[in-house]
Amino acid sequence: MNHVILMFLRKKKKSSVSSVEVGIHKRIIEVSGTASVFEHTLCRPSKLASLGSLAKAISKRGLTGDFVECGVYKGGSAALIFSLLPTDCHAWLYDSFEGMPEVSEHDDSAAKEWEGTCVGHVDDAVKIMTEMSISPERFTIRKGWFEDSFKEPLPKQIQYLHIDADWYDSVLLALETFYPLVVDGGLIVLDDFGHWEGCRRAFYDYCEREKIRPLLDRFENDQAFWFKGREHNRDGWTHKAL
Ligand SMILES: C[S@@+](CC[C@H](N)C(=O)[O-])C[C@H]1O[C@@H](n2cnc3c(N)ncnc32)[C@H](O)[C@@H]1O
Repeated sequence: MNHVILMFLRKKKKSSVSSVEVGIHKRIIEVSGTASVFEHTLCRPSKLASLGSLAKAISKRGLTGDFVECGVYKGGSAALIFSLLPTDCHAWLYDSFEGMPEVSEHDDSAAKEWEGTCVGHVDDAVKIMTEMSISPERFTIRKGWFEDSFKEPLPKQIQYLHIDADWYDSVLLALETFYPLVVDGGLIVLDDFGHWEGCRRAFYDYCEREKIRPLLDRFENDQAFWFKGREHNRDGWTHKAL
């Protein structure tokens, strides 16, 4: 058994680790080609697997457009998703790399103590992309606060938008800036829908203002996603394992 899986097992109480969890862990290492991905992300393995599985689903659709992640931290989720997207796709990675900004009145009180946490680094993001054999010309890192970095030239079209930026203002600005660029059939993932109230409020405020009614899917307690323009589930698509 891989030493990383062993470490993972040791960190948890042995009795609480299921064979499903070990399987997910192994599968992510298999797909990414490295165990380092876990050291570069705050996402738990099952959530990474969900993000990867969605990348595979999107790849099969033959869409045009790039990958955008708002909230990169050390690059783990971005590298995993991007490695599973078509090779003609470019990655645009947005983060302050200075940690979480101040909350607003739209965020819940529990959020306040997370201000200034989750500090990633550009070098870490580059490191995991490189380790996963993603060449530097295939990705652009926009370091800075969203209100500034979103003013720089943007991708023209997006097929996979991953918003992992927790707070109301950050999520709302990400939706305002990038949702119009998502192609029909493209995917939008909200990492924190069920976890941070500000994320959920930003989503509903944006939908109300833009008069859209996304067909929202949920994964575990926090993640939510939808395919732009999808009106029903009658075609039988399901969120399959990675
Ligand atoms: C939960 S972390 C992202 C986790 C990452 N996707 C992973 O794989 O672990 C949230 C990130 O969003 C960034 N962030 C949140 N709001 C931001 C804003 N307004 N401008 C720039 N970065 C922001 C923070 O710096 C932090 O790195």
